[in-house]
Amino acid sequence: MVIELAVAMLACARIGAMHSVVFAGFSAESLATRIVDANCKVLVTADGFFRGSKTINLKKIADKAVTLSSTDGVKVTSVILLEHLKRVTVPQGAVLPKNEPLTDKDFLYETEMQKHADKESSVEWMQAEDPLFLLYTSGSTGKPKGIQHTTAGYMVYAYMTMKCSFDAKPDDVYWCTADCGWITGHSYLLYGPLMNGLTGVWFEGVPLHPNPSRIWNIVDIYKVNKLYTSPTAVRALSALGDKWVKETSRSSLQLIGTVGEPINPAAWLWLHKVAGEENCAIVDTYWQTETGGHMITPLPGATPTKPGSATFPFFGVNPVLLDAEGRQIEGPGEGNLCFDRAWPGMLRGVYGDKERFMKTYFAPFKGYYCTGDGARRDEDGYLWITGRVDDLMNVSGHLLSTAEIESALVAHANVAEAAVVAAPHDIKGSFPYAFVTLNVGEKLDAKLIGELKQLVRDKIGALAVPDVIQEAPGLPKTRSGKVTRRILRKIAEGCDTGLGDVTTLVDESIISELVNGRNRLG
Ligand code: WT7
Repeated sequence: MVIELAVAMLACARIGAMHSVVFAGFSAESLATRIVDANCKVLVTADGFFRGSKTINLKKIADKAVTLSSTDGVKVTSVILLEHLKRVTVPQGAVLPKNEPLTDKDFLYETEMQKHADKESSVEWMQAEDPLFLLYTSGSTGKPKGIQHTTAGYMVYAYMTMKCSFDAKPDDVYWCTADCGWITGHSYLLYGPLMNGLTGVWFEGVPLHPNPSRIWNIVDIYKVNKLYTSPTAVRALSALGDKWVKETSRSSLQLIGTVGEPINPAAWLWLHKVAGEENCAIVDTYWQTETGGHMITPLPGATPTKPGSATFPFFGVNPVLLDAEGRQIEGPGEGNLCFDRAWPGMLRGVYGDKERFMKTYFAPFKGYYCTGDGARRDEDGYLWITGRVDDLMNVSGHLLSTAEIESALVAHANVAEAAVVAAPHDIKGSFPYAFVTLNVGEKLDAKLIGELKQLVRDKIGALAVPDVIQEAPGLPKTRSGKVTRRILRKIAEGCDTGLGDVTTLVDESIISELVNGRNRLG
């Protein structure tokens, strides 16, 4: 997360080349897959970086990816290497990686910049529908999809949503904690903020390092008035207690936005009451890599909010809820969230795979863009995202939302995070199996299990009560912070091995801890 990354992305846009940013936490194999799929010619990278006290040797990963992709016949002709490590302070406990030798493909970023310092590159004028970039997102079936966005439509949409959802003004000091490797980093860290002409904060680091006050300290140092972050970060922070927040001023803050997953009412309220001190607009923005920008979001100061609801659609967006047969649900109800017309920021394709593009988004419900999410409309017309439809479970013929049960569990003061999956059951078909991460110092005893079951019973109904509640020291998450329920489902099913691809997880070791934990349950 360095300024040269923004420079590289914008330089691509200027010469009319598509950029395809790959999150630096990915393995060489994942990088190679993306290089090969898009037939990339140039790789811009850095020698390495620190993540907390961990050292990542990026050059080594990049070299391996270039070699791997060449065996697949794809030729990366040059690698632009930023020497980042020599200019940053080595954090306590971290070690500098061994210097990787330069190859004949490597060009040093600094040297190349100096060589061309007095020259200006001309602008390659693009057509509105010409591609601006690709961004890979995981598909439900294996291979990642190269989501293709256009020059004009994408930028108009990033600009406009940023302006309205965050009430963007030139005087703002705005900080989005996302990484540029995800769409949030594209739309609301680079393109949106620059087009709105405000001051943006770019942060290279982790929110909990060196301590859980980090986010709020940065807010205070730069007088950040608008902050955009994720529910995962919020839950992680709130689990550690209010002390870390209360030690800071946050007097500049006016707005806190979230994105990435449903924000449970408890986390929403913590933002509102504790972090925001009831002085900030809380903006829960629902959208996807594919949508380019916000689709369902409150407008700060204008939309009366309800904790946990992304509220209403953005201008020009028309969400519909469809039942399994594709019939529109009118009024209050729950169904498949689809959009019935195009919008400027909509993806224009899955790179090199038109069939997959049509199949994934337009085949499930003819005439609609299908999000793959479920949503509920309440009696006031507010929309509540219930989670991926593939995370729905059928218990005794009743459809339950895993997100809804999780939300009930995390409403307990001792619970930091919860993930619920469907486990097979002889009579009911399946039953809810819950993994819960408790706040520091808490333990899952019979009393707490009883309270948790009661909470679910109270909030949803007896039918949603998890038959099994297992304590989880942590949940398996992808680097974008998504809980990989497919692995939890396997663990709940009783599998010890054959859990599927675990290489995209932040921490693989959590898997064996969870398997052991389950075996201890008997
Ligand atoms: C999926 C898209 C959009 C940038 C980050 C994620 C979930 C996203 C919300 C929200 C409930 C949300 C959906 C969606 N999601 N925002 N505010 N409330 N769910 O991009 O990786 O393409 O993921 O994230 O399930 O389909 P992505």
